[in-house]
Amino acid sequence: MKVVVTAGPTREYLDPVRFLSNPSTGKMGFAVAAAAAAAGHETVLISGPVSLKTPPGVRRIDVVSAREMLRQTLLQVGKPAAAGNRVVVIGAAAVADLRPRTCSPVKIKKSAMGEVLRLVRNPDILKTLGRKRLGWLRLVGFAAETGDAIGEASRKCREKKLSFVVGNDVTKKGAGFAVDTNEAVFVFPDGSYRRLPLMSKRALARLIVKEAEKIA
Ligand code: PMT
Repeated sequence: MKVVVTAGPTREYLDPVRFLSNPSTGKMGFAVAAAAAAAGHETVLISGPVSLKTPPGVRRIDVVSAREMLRQTLLQVGKPAAAGNRVVVIGAAAVADLRPRTCSPVKIKKSAMGEVLRLVRNPDILKTLGRKRLGWLRLVGFAAETGDAIGEASRKCREKKLSFVVGNDVTKKGAGFAVDTNEAVFVFPDGSYRRLPLMSKRALARLIVKEAEKIA
């Protein structure tokens, strides 16, 4: 199978020196890409701005904004992988849901700045892919939650037409953003789930790739 992984944060610029973003470091997504490549799959990693090295055997495409991440992901899934193999997109990126309505090409002067920032909704990458109903495409999502990881992951699984979701409670110690470990739950479209113990992101990534192989 061909594996396309999104990783890291996106940045939504207001002007050349200011942006909206989040604390994602890319560690989870890079671990998934490394595990996919190590398992012998053609692997493309579409990454927001992070400071991590590209894992061996992985083709990396750097992007900044959600719209660029969507464009590059669409380019990767447009046709089936070689010999009719499936393409599996694993969305580990923390994509900004909103962006400033306008982006100034020059730094906005403090004196010219109002106190209200107008925002518009970014496209949802996984939802956009799901709506295309491409027969060769399978989608795996993450769900970053601050509480009921199973309920929310289950809702996202159905809404975004995902084969399964990796839910993680980002308020738990040793889980979520910026750490080398994670505690996750795999949630499936029929509402069933499999809780996993706290483990390294590398170990979790190997389990995610194994689960993805079952749906490919
Ligand atoms: O990068 P690290 O520091 O290692 O942190 C890892 C992580 C916490 C970022 C990762 O484990 C994680 O949970 N990633 C998903 C974060 C997120 O944006 O979750 P969400 O619940 O908002 O989104 C649900 C799913 O839809 C995700 O697969 C996301 O990539 C996708 N999405 C979200 C918004 C959007 N506009 N387009 C999307 O495709």
